[in-house]
Amino acid sequence: MTWGPFDLSGKAAIVTGGAMGIGFGIVTRFVEAGANVLVADLDGALAARKVAELEGPGKAVSMAIDVAAPEAGDRLVGECVGYFGSVDILVNNAGIYPMTPMLALTRETWQRVIDVNLTGLAFVSKAVATRMVEQATGGKIINIASIDSLHPSMVGLAAYDSSKGGVLMFTRSFALEMAPHGVNVNAIAPGAIATEGTAAPLRGSGMTEAQMKAMMDQFVAGVPLKRMGEPDDIATVAVFLASPASDYMTGDIMVVDGGVLLG
Ligand code: NAI
Repeated sequence: MTWGPFDLSGKAAIVTGGAMGIGFGIVTRFVEAGANVLVADLDGALAARKVAELEGPGKAVSMAIDVAAPEAGDRLVGECVGYFGSVDILVNNAGIYPMTPMLALTRETWQRVIDVNLTGLAFVSKAVATRMVEQATGGKIINIASIDSLHPSMVGLAAYDSSKGGVLMFTRSFALEMAPHGVNVNAIAPGAIATEGTAAPLRGSGMTEAQMKAMMDQFVAGVPLKRMGEPDDIATVAVFLASPASDYMTGDIMVVDGGVLLG
């Protein structure tokens, strides 16, 4: 397969939260499109196992990282440059979405959601962008936001929706700041994507298989394209935003939700 204007050959990419779900989908397509990828995840052991599953032409290596840690950005840049010689693409994908009504939410949970989803994303971006400016060869930063950046989807996500609303405005503001350096900063807003993370609360809910299926059927009935999204639905859009095909786009949010926000 030829990737044409979407080719990522020779580019060095960091994907946070790359060990499973949407992140691993993005890693898989990036490696296929020729990029060398640092798969950075809180679960370093899982990241190492998943990297072993990948087939080239790009290379992939793994590391354990908490994106909320103050030193995360510098460590990511150091590892990526050490392995591949540069950082050309960053995907800020790591994110958490605990579901708790605001009236029951603790300050600790609120703070962790903001630290991982917004502060971590911003300061990893800062470290990577600093390196991109030094390299003076431009770059691509892709933030995984959510349709909840634009519209709340359900009760119990006040902290998450606040963090993802912040990701949208950070994307726009940082895009303006980075434009003179040829660094494009864009976001993807996924709708409901079937991942390990979204399956876990259902499995732990005590619902029977039949109840879970009925709930999913009801949900899918409300999706104009009549299916849940898959990680690859996001991964192919991420390849586009990482590639020269999107060179004239910056500060944009691409909604990938099967049409949910239309209704
Ligand atoms: P997931 O829970 O299936 O996988 C997330 C990965 O990120 C895991 O490998 C986890 O270990 C890692 N991670 C979590 N906290 C981390 C941290 N502090 N530092 C480094 N790695 C960390 O998640 P999923 O569903 O693939 O979501 C990925 C992103 O997409 C998140 O930002 C999420 O908010 C966003 N999103 C997901 C949607 C969905 O329906 N799955 C919808 C809209 C947005």
